[in-house]
Amino acid sequence: MSLTTCTIHVTQRQEKVIYLTGELAKTLQLSKLKSVNLKLGSSSVSTPVRLLKKTGHHLYMPISVMTQLRVPQLGSCMVLCTNGKDVRLGPHIGILTQVTGIRSAPFGSRTEFLRQFMQMGTGRSFYFGFSPRDVNWTQQTVTGIFPSKDGGWIRKTVPLPDVVYNRLPSRRAEKQPSMNAFKQRFVRRGIPLFNWAFFDKWDVYNLLEGTDAFRYVPDSQIDPSSAQIKQMLDNHKFIYLKPTGGSLGIGIYRLTYNPKRGYYARFRRNGKNVLLRFNRFDSLMGLLNRQSGQLHNYVAQQGIRLIEIDDCPIDFRFHLTKNINNEWVVAGIGAKKAGRGSITTHVRSGGQLMTPGQVLREIFGSRAEQVLANAKETAIKLAETIEHKNRHTLGELGFDIGIDQNERIWMFEANSKPGRSIFKHPALKAEGKAALQHVYEYCLYLSRFHTRRES
Ligand SMILES: Nc1ncnc2c1ncn2[C@@H]1O[C@H](COP(=O)(O)OP(=O)(O)O)[C@@H](O)[C@H]1O
Ligand SMILES: [Mg+2]
Repeated sequence: MSLTTCTIHVTQRQEKVIYLTGELAKTLQLSKLKSVNLKLGSSSVSTPVRLLKKTGHHLYMPISVMTQLRVPQLGSCMVLCTNGKDVRLGPHIGILTQVTGIRSAPFGSRTEFLRQFMQMGTGRSFYFGFSPRDVNWTQQTVTGIFPSKDGGWIRKTVPLPDVVYNRLPSRRAEKQPSMNAFKQRFVRRGIPLFNWAFFDKWDVYNLLEGTDAFRYVPDSQIDPSSAQIKQMLDNHKFIYLKPTGGSLGIGIYRLTYNPKRGYYARFRRNGKNVLLRFNRFDSLMGLLNRQSGQLHNYVAQQGIRLIEIDDCPIDFRFHLTKNINNEWVVAGIGAKKAGRGSITTHVRSGGQLMTPGQVLREIFGSRAEQVLANAKETAIKLAETIEHKNRHTLGELGFDIGIDQNERIWMFEANSKPGRSIFKHPALKAEGKAALQHVYEYCLYLSRFHTRRES
């Protein structure tokens, strides 16, 4: 197998022949061939090939071949030959997301993120963003949005990609049955699609149940009845109630039971932290509007006494990615200190972003390094287990990880399309870039535009 980069040019000649420089043909081990199958994503063209006495890695094609292959742009990309006849140009990477009509920001608030991601493979790959309605299955094409040289964006119709990076932003839209079928169509054509869908909290709990990694998940119950909530409060003294499909701390309650003083509920309402006390359990259930029956689509979870600074709990976001060798790596870690009186550590509810080093040294002193190493090892183990149990390809995971006052590690939540807010911290910018680089390299792995590691 031969892999290199080459520059694509267009020739004005009419005949349907492509020209390779002798050097490129030699690297690709094609020197003696009369014709090749030139491929890009799902399209392919068989064409005679001739050699040019010129140095460097260059490929010249007539307009007819460019049009037939639907080459998105001239310039350089990777070129791969595995069997001495099929020459693949690429990788052709599609990012599945929501496309707005706005030309300057076609991916809405995600435009900058996508631009940064696309920069990872500049000059070595083709990149575009697309939404589900942009695919034409009959023609096997996608009308995607490409970065243009002047910093803007341009629409082009291209073949189906080699790999799909799923960053669809809406949980609700992704839950539609038609979306599942849409994504399956790629997989059925042998096009890997990674980060299949958002996780629900309860799904992850179920995936981990029965595995070694289950001990990192606090005791949890889906759709808890009043009796189960009462029982959990008796067992654990405080619990969290969280919408199973929720995010950003929305809809979360923290319930506490104190045998002498009664029941407390903390939550956030209209941008403020609220604390209510109830003498009777039934009144507490009244607050949740569930005097009888169950609390639907909620998970009740054992409360964990997190480490604290200035009486504010702290937890961590571990951002994991796959790398070019298909292994999980901890690409970045942010520490999050809860805002005063807040039950979650989200920045939007007053939380503060810190580095794990800062926090762990203050709390664990000389043991800080060891605690961090343990937490990293746990995060990798959790990622490997979730991947193993999940039927789909995963390329990124964001774990909300807590460390309790006994140094025990807990996982509150696994996000399959993690946000990147921790990388806004000035000390974490380089890690943010490394995370994107890993995802790009994972695309190379999935699309097979890489050389196998000798082991
Ligand atoms: N069982 C728990 N014990 C202690 N703190 C928790 C617990 N569950 C959640 N939290 C706190 O609430 C935050 C939000 O919970 P999480 O499960 O990540 O929900 P969301 O999807 O809203 O982000 C966590 O980052 C953590 O600070
Ligand atoms: Mg969370």
